[in-house]
Amino acid sequence: MAEEIRIGLFGPPGAGKGTQAQLLRDRWGVAHISSGDLFRWNLKEKTSLGLKASEFMEQGVLVPDEVTIGIILDKVLELGKKEGFILDGFPRNTHQAEALEEALERQSRGLDAVVHIDLPEEELLRRLGGRYSCRQCQAPYNIDLLPGGAGKQGTNGSGHFTCEHCGGELYQRPDDSSEAVGRRIEVYRNETMPVLEFYRDRELLLDVEGLGSIEAVNGRLLEVLQR
Ligand code: AP5
Repeated sequence: MAEEIRIGLFGPPGAGKGTQAQLLRDRWGVAHISSGDLFRWNLKEKTSLGLKASEFMEQGVLVPDEVTIGIILDKVLELGKKEGFILDGFPRNTHQAEALEEALERQSRGLDAVVHIDLPEEELLRRLGGRYSCRQCQAPYNIDLLPGGAGKQGTNGSGHFTCEHCGGELYQRPDDSSEAVGRRIEVYRNETMPVLEFYRDRELLLDVEGLGSIEAVNGRLLEVLQR
């Protein structure tokens, strides 16, 4: 049943993981657990975790496993045994993948699938260069789809774009600077891509072409999951 589904969304920075995770969350009513969103929420609240994570995020490198694994697994394990979830941005290295597998085994369950969304680097750079995110709920937007720009949302009177979900102010993430994006893509290739083999070996990996409209990618994603 869809509300029990447990999947991971995997792909390079800007592939559309957050965008697709929100669509699936709304469709299935399952939890969306995003490591990046969790760190950014903590930074907004100025917690010690947020401040620590931001040192690494701004440079475009991974937050150390001793900080990351515990907080994500807590979020996963606090869900009921039958509750579904979408993991977005975790695991990001094989150590994290092993820790997740071990934790889920304790619940006598594993992931149902890991969906790998991929697209060419030039498109990743184009999308990240045009991304605005909500300070409150973290929803990602593409500047080309915003008003003035276009889209359904307006500005909040001070010239800032606002979020159509919660009215929060939209901003550009500091790690979307061209220098940090270059580093994030390099880290993805060197540290995160080996996780693909981890899930391919377990026959959990599903590949989805990330080019095309948000709706087209979502349609492909639902199709591979239904198969
Ligand atoms: P995180 O927040 O996870 O960033 P990321 O993986 O680099 O992914 P992004 O959020 O940049 O992209 P996305 O794939 O979600 O794309 P989106 O949907 O926004 O992590 C940030 C940092 O936190 C890391 O660098 C690291 O420091 C730390 N961190 C996080 N997890 C960690 C972990 N497990 N371990 C250690 N450190 C960790 O889409 C991008 C843009 O494209 C948007 O503007 C969107 O509107 C647009 N768009 C999406 N789909 C389409 C489409 N089909 N057509 C046109 N535009 C589209």
